[in-house]
Amino acid sequence: MRILVTGGAGFIGSNFARLAVRKGHDVLVFDKLTYAGNMENIRDLLDPGKIEFVQGDVCDARAVREAVRGCDGIVHFAAATHVDRSILEAGTFVQTDVVGTYVVLEAARQENVGRVVHISTDELYGESGPKPSREDSPLWPKSPYAASKAGADRLAYSYHATYDLPVVITRCVNNYGPYQHPEKAIPLFTICALVGHPLPVYGSGRNRREWIHVDDHTEALLAVLRAKGLEGETFNIGTGERKSTLEIAQAVVDAVGKPRGLISRVADRPGHVKSHAVDSGKIRRRIGWKPTRRFAAGLPEAVRWFVEHPAWWRKTVTDAGRAYFEERYPGLVPAVEKLGASG
Ligand code: NAD
Ligand code: TYD
Repeated sequence: MRILVTGGAGFIGSNFARLAVRKGHDVLVFDKLTYAGNMENIRDLLDPGKIEFVQGDVCDARAVREAVRGCDGIVHFAAATHVDRSILEAGTFVQTDVVGTYVVLEAARQENVGRVVHISTDELYGESGPKPSREDSPLWPKSPYAASKAGADRLAYSYHATYDLPVVITRCVNNYGPYQHPEKAIPLFTICALVGHPLPVYGSGRNRREWIHVDDHTEALLAVLRAKGLEGETFNIGTGERKSTLEIAQAVVDAVGKPRGLISRVADRPGHVKSHAVDSGKIRRRIGWKPTRRFAAGLPEAVRWFVEHPAWWRKTVTDAGRAYFEERYPGLVPAVEKLGASG
């Protein structure tokens, strides 16, 4: 199968591309290479010619249509993804996540693509109630990121309902694992712990998220891409493993072998969702997928990846992401640079 992977130089997209190649598929990565896109994430695939790569913007209809032509399936990851950044620059999120998704869907329709997997998120449910959110739960997104993704999610559904485009929508919980951008909580906490910088826990530290290892997510996506008869369906993807921010910070410092005293409370995020939790029974029943990694084993393994790849995160923090880290986490960039200078 020839698969177009939009956003394939980012965290989940690059892990998905690696899995798809391993399973014998032809992969074309289409990515704008924003601050979040990184060629190093796909270097091992690109250099030996295992994938093709096109640098382009999902909002550029002509470039997207050219990339889509001849593909059997599209997995649409490309998006602006960080909640904190969406609070600072909502317009980028509306443009990339909503308009970019429209452009991808339109190209898929014109080129008669056989399957489009639209990567949505559990963030669009907003606060989960006493019970985990189901696929038919109401959508109450709280951040510009979540609201933009909600728009994209419903637009993707509308292309199935209106034009019969074979779209499947997935809403996954928080991912962790190799190549995750250091602006996200687990890599950020890991880097802080490694360089001896306080771990910035927002507010009470009691906000909870459901966590999945990126390999479990990408396995689910490949299964969804290949399964027959799911057109127009939406699937939550989750593990049932919910952790507070404080528990995450503690697990990270424990894995790195640093004192818990490094954990510090900072001002809360505006609109900070208290709890995200999904019911992922539907995907388990319909396609037989289930996660294979427990958080207790997966988290230390992910932390170890960052310990073993200091050049990767040092460059990300001090290069494309520099201004953002300097503004939000004073002292972190010099600490990272000092570590670089000392080896
Ligand atoms: P990421 O920020 O690591 O990667 C996003 C990629 O998209 C980058 O390579 C970036 O260069 C690219 N991109 C951004 N704007 C683009 C544009 N205009 N045109 C082309 N490419 C563009 O994000 P991620 O964590 O890998 O998330 C991937 C997808 O999964 C997103 O759609 C996100 O909403 C969704 N998702 C993420 C999580 C999570 O926990 N990370 C959970 C659920 C869903
Ligand atoms: P994040 O990785 O940004 O993902 P999301 O907002 O999509 O869930 O954050 C995960 C949790 O960690 C969330 O509750 C916010 C919290 N957090 C902090 O406490 N401090 C930080 O510096 C960051 C980036 C996140």
